[in-house]
Amino acid sequence: MSIYGEYKPTLQKILQELMTRFNSLNQEQQSNTGDSLFEHLNGRVKTEKSMTEKCQRKNLPLTPYSALRENRDSIGLRIVCNFIDDIYLCVDKINQMPDIEIVKKKDYITNAKPNGYRSYHLILDMTTSDIDIEGNSPGHYYVEIQLRTIAMDTWASLEHEMKYKHEVKHPELISRELKRVADELASCDVSMQTIRQMIRDENQ
Ligand code: GTP
Ligand code: MG
Repeated sequence: MSIYGEYKPTLQKILQELMTRFNSLNQEQQSNTGDSLFEHLNGRVKTEKSMTEKCQRKNLPLTPYSALRENRDSIGLRIVCNFIDDIYLCVDKINQMPDIEIVKKKDYITNAKPNGYRSYHLILDMTTSDIDIEGNSPGHYYVEIQLRTIAMDTWASLEHEMKYKHEVKHPELISRELKRVADELASCDVSMQTIRQMIRDENQ
């Protein structure tokens, strides 16, 4: 039996619907302003294996309720933007969606994690026509959204990979170097945004 019980197809459906919605929003923004809202978008329903491991780690019973209510990242989207400003513009757009309530915001851009990790995380409560685990119809489903710049995404991918490589000989050195690079990339993100603003001002 799946840890998602009978709800897995609904999770897939909500993910697809949201990805289509964000891609349309991006196209709309491009035709209205000439600039894209984001560079690319990824999405996934957390694998049953990862969800099971996460529930075990948190000492939760291996039930659909744990997977869909105690955990809030069964549906996950990652929006990768060109510039920092675009992240906050995306958050504004999400805020305006009538069927979505933002229930949690974590701004690891203004407050980077000690290891250098930067991203803007949202937990959404999405209302859908589908029944949910508590029998509500319309139902409620949680969605995690991570918003990052390309630079933040590049760093997070490498850092994630390093975490699982246990043969690293000098982990303190590697962590220190990764932190240094995270800060350099953050400074580049600010510079790139300043350059974009200069170009925009010249064209006014
Ligand atoms: P869970 O990890 O979902 O239980 O909740 P949390 O409150 O710890 O969430 P947080 O917002 O800190 O992190 C959620 C997700 O963000 C993780 O599953 C990763 O995908 C990503 N993330 C958070 N911290 C890091 C980090 O230091 N490095 C990388 N590469 N990814 C991170
Ligand atoms: Mg975590």
